[in-house]
Amino acid sequence: MFVKNCWYCAGWDYELSQGRCALLARRLAGEAVVLYRKLDGTVVAFEDRCCHRQAPLSRGTKEGDSLRCGYHGMKYGPDGVCTEIPGQTIIPPKARVRTYPVVEQDNWIWVWLGDPALADPKHICSAVGPGAQGWNIKTSKVSINTNYRREIENLMDLSHVAWIHRDTLGGSMAWVEAKLNHTPIERGINTEFWMPEAAAPGFAKHLFPPEAVFDAHANINFTLPCNFIMRYQVWSPGTMKVGKENGLLLLDSWSSQAVTPRDEHWCDYYYSWGLSEATDSPGMVDLLVEAANAAFLEDKAMLEAQYERLRECPDGNKIDIKADTGPNKMLFLVDKLLAEEAAVTAPRQQSARG
Ligand code: FES
Ligand SMILES: [Fe+2]
Repeated sequence: MFVKNCWYCAGWDYELSQGRCALLARRLAGEAVVLYRKLDGTVVAFEDRCCHRQAPLSRGTKEGDSLRCGYHGMKYGPDGVCTEIPGQTIIPPKARVRTYPVVEQDNWIWVWLGDPALADPKHICSAVGPGAQGWNIKTSKVSINTNYRREIENLMDLSHVAWIHRDTLGGSMAWVEAKLNHTPIERGINTEFWMPEAAAPGFAKHLFPPEAVFDAHANINFTLPCNFIMRYQVWSPGTMKVGKENGLLLLDSWSSQAVTPRDEHWCDYYYSWGLSEATDSPGMVDLLVEAANAAFLEDKAMLEAQYERLRECPDGNKIDIKADTGPNKMLFLVDKLLAEEAAVTAPRQQSARG
């Protein structure tokens, strides 16, 4: 079950070139979608299913702004309407495929799966991508064999950083001890917290004496379906007490992460991380991103192992702890929107049946 009136990230803009066969096949929240670029560079998204015999259109080819099915050659314009059926002159009015609203923003491609009339770009999270001025940002992606609700739990509860990512992004118990401030925002939650006098993270410990500590500050916007946009700053020790205006900013970073459920069992995770040019230094972004890449593989390993256990024993013992406050708030929001959408679509389906 997925919220449909929602922008889903289909990947990084550089994944979609202008090649003749540059068709990007994605499964977004259960729906097979194919994307390509028109000649002017704008992106088109079709249901990846020909209206003739259901062949995946992603096995076809681009012709100018059109897409030709690779099975029997039906050609579709960028509006999804069939313009040519090889071997016949009459084109039935039903010869068309569904198209989806698409927006490119912050180097991500976003697809709206629900009612096109509601596809307002203001619902797309604001991120800092690799094209952002003044920032050195690097990108990557990973696929994870788990249900996306488990991803929401993972990202809304960063106490796991102290354990799973002990040798990479973690390195102290500050992630467990932080006092989190959760504030509702449109279609999500803002989480803000300080980690005073925290030791250097695992990946950077070799750069400092063992007794070195820092004040770290995180501000995260978490929005539907599973978008995590974090500004993470490292300040001189004591800054939390004296205020940022009196502290020294040592590291200023953004991490933008969009997790798209592929189906009930897989998620595609598109992420970036980087530093402001002002606080970057030779080799620093590479060191940070190397640690982030390793950390996301640590998450993948744990989440996939957890999912295996959950599927073995779905009714097994599960308790909540204090750290589950954030995840539970976000899952509550997902369930609320699912119920709202069901309340709108169920009567429509009933009246269509007759
Ligand atoms: S399945 Fe596409 S043209 Fe036949
Ligand atoms: Fe993690």
